[in-house]
Amino acid sequence: MAGVSVQAFRRQGRRYGAGLVCSEMVSCAGLHHRNERTLGYLRIASDEHPLAVQIFGSEPETMAEAARMVEAAGADLVDINFGCPVKKVTKTGAGATLLDDPGRACRIVSAVAESVSVPVSVKMRRGLEDGSRTCLEVGPRLVEAGAASLTLHPRSAKQMYTGSADHSLTAELVELVGVPIVASGDITSRSRAQAVLATTGAAAVMVGRAAQGNPWVLQEIVEDDPAEPTREEIVAELMLFMRETVRELGEQRATSFLKKFYGWYLGRGRFPRQFKSELTQLPTIADVEERLLVAAPGAAEVLERLQDELPADEIELELPISIYGGG
Ligand SMILES: Cc1cc2nc3c(=O)[nH]c(=O)nc-3n(C[C@H](O)[C@H](O)[C@H](O)COP(=O)(O)O)c2cc1C
Repeated sequence: MAGVSVQAFRRQGRRYGAGLVCSEMVSCAGLHHRNERTLGYLRIASDEHPLAVQIFGSEPETMAEAARMVEAAGADLVDINFGCPVKKVTKTGAGATLLDDPGRACRIVSAVAESVSVPVSVKMRRGLEDGSRTCLEVGPRLVEAGAASLTLHPRSAKQMYTGSADHSLTAELVELVGVPIVASGDITSRSRAQAVLATTGAAAVMVGRAAQGNPWVLQEIVEDDPAEPTREEIVAELMLFMRETVRELGEQRATSFLKKFYGWYLGRGRFPRQFKSELTQLPTIADVEERLLVAAPGAAEVLERLQDELPADEIELELPISIYGGG
């Protein structure tokens, strides 16, 4: 998820049981121009694998070049974005608009599949307009072009994130192609995951927004462990996330980036609403940490344990950070 799936988010997802994590979408044009911030998206830590890096763009050759860079960076899978509904992306002919240009979409997939040896997957929406069934026409063609797997988020691009995901389309897509289908959209609990798997025949489910500030939902889904985290655990996970994000993005970018995460971690009735808004007003991350520890002093000990459990071998993470400086 753009603006969410930073490395700290992905590593946390893996710790809580995600079988595969995915990067934010990465601009192939940005990679082509060796844009420093875009290159930063290719930082991969040793404990993220298996990891997909998602690329977006509209030119087959540039996408193929981006895919080669993604593979060289160590990704286990290259994912192609045919789902982004945001104007900034669709007006360049990338993202969900490619569903209405299947010829080009297929040329992109085959150029990418031919240029790397890791599997290539595609993430798509149902189509551009409400009620569209375009994904069922385009999906099989993408597989023929070389997609090893398809992830379907069965909302239209027009819907953005409103309404609900219509997984009856996921079931239809499963019937049409011989590759694994991943179901994305509104997977918020173990029972929801089980229902979608059972009714669609999908090979896997993808969890998006439900994991924002809530890695425990992954544990619930994967291990059937519905234990609610304690206040100390919540604060410790948030603080670890903050520290890793500062390391990844630099203090300045992290300070604004993290604000939405305070609400996500501390919401869900876990802490008073006023506390969340108080945190977003604090000027520095050190101030936020201090305030969090006043609210849950026992979190310091949990945090120490979490940090001790992180792998010592972080070479893949350290090297590029020293090059790009974290921003
Ligand atoms: C903030 C945000 C950013 C997203 N960015 C991406 C993205 O970069 N690539 C992508 O394929 N999907 C992206 N998505 C869509 C999600 O992957 C997912 O398909 C969608 O949110 C539905 O799943 P959910 O109900 O589990 O969140 C994004 C969603 C959100 C909310």
